[in-house]
Amino acid sequence: MSKVHTTPEIKIMPEKWNYAPHVLRLENSIIREILKISSKPGVISFAGGLPAPEMFPLEDLKQSAVEMIDEFGSDSMQYSLSMGISHLRKVVAERETRLGSPTKMENILITTGSQQGIDLCARAFIDPGDYIITEYPTYVGALQAFNFYQTRYASVEMDENGMIVEQVEKAIKKYKPKFIYTVSNFQNPTGITMSEERRRTLVEIASKYNIPIVDDNPYGEIRFTGKAMPSLKDIGGEAVISLGTFSKILAPGLRIAWINASEKAMPIFERVKQCADLNANTFTQYMIYGYMRNGKLDGHIETIKNNYATKKDLMLREMANNFPKGISWTKPEGGLFLWVTLPSDMSAKKLFDKAIEQKVAYVYGKPFYPDGNSENTMRLNYCTASMEMISEGIKRLAKLLRDNMPR
Ligand SMILES: Cc1ncc(COP(=O)(O)O)c(C=O)c1O
Repeated sequence: MSKVHTTPEIKIMPEKWNYAPHVLRLENSIIREILKISSKPGVISFAGGLPAPEMFPLEDLKQSAVEMIDEFGSDSMQYSLSMGISHLRKVVAERETRLGSPTKMENILITTGSQQGIDLCARAFIDPGDYIITEYPTYVGALQAFNFYQTRYASVEMDENGMIVEQVEKAIKKYKPKFIYTVSNFQNPTGITMSEERRRTLVEIASKYNIPIVDDNPYGEIRFTGKAMPSLKDIGGEAVISLGTFSKILAPGLRIAWINASEKAMPIFERVKQCADLNANTFTQYMIYGYMRNGKLDGHIETIKNNYATKKDLMLREMANNFPKGISWTKPEGGLFLWVTLPSDMSAKKLFDKAIEQKVAYVYGKPFYPDGNSENTMRLNYCTASMEMISEGIKRLAKLLRDNMPR
């Protein structure tokens, strides 16, 4: 009789695998956690960073998708060049030129969202322990991307005119940063825009030390009011690596964005892009190309701007009418967000659980600071909620603030 072999039970423990220590040290995104809580039924959320979903031009995108398959067939489903499909690079370059920065197709690399643009900048420049200059506060998603590469931060404070660039030269001398990261237009999280004078000074200082400026610019075209300003790229040309995206002017699910940089920097960016994901989504690149070729983008941006401007005005009105004294907030001329500052001894983080009980949500400011050292700020998104929800949500938030103001 043959013997039956039994395998001793082996327990696989993926939680105990030998993961890289620097990855284990990364924190989960606090924002994702907040968004999870904010999506509970009945909660009016000003927390997300999302564009308004009813604004997505589904019919026009559908039409473009069909046209592209008819016209480009299997090419539209194939791997494509790491730099991006030339049809799209060309129309993006033409658009950048029309908006103020003379750009050739060779200056454009198509990325998987501008989040990847940020990541590629980090890949291209950062060794563990290197410094970069950022605004204080800054975009939390960029901090997450930079943290992966063990970046250190030389933070520069902001006022109503953006980064206080007078502090930049001192920081360059002290920290020898690899680049300067800024969200110069309608910044996420504050809604603040860098003044033209500051832009010119920043370009001057950065050029003097040959340090690139990375201008992360998803919101530049979403200006409602005020004087249009030359972008850092318009002013600084080759000194600036600018990151654009279709996420906020069209739809983030397409995951298509671009880096606009000097041709001389492109071999480096192409190399790190290939390491990351070979190429951005071929089909959605074609879809956006078709959509732009059909002349739809400019009109669509106008529609978005009108919608967001109306909601922003309503939110500001409701805040002025209902918020207690001692609280201040920014009044953005574009973009998706505004920034609220509470009295210095009040914690927006501690208030958050009570806010959820009152069925209203925001993102508290702490994660936007590289050193996590701020308690009394919060970010509100005015684009995703409906008009009725904005009115009701701000009333709920105002009551919460009134009930918790320090005596
Ligand atoms: C300043 C900033 N940069 C980059 C991104 C990421 O955008 P994308 O969807 O293009 O990756 C966002 C998204 O909210 C943002 O606010």
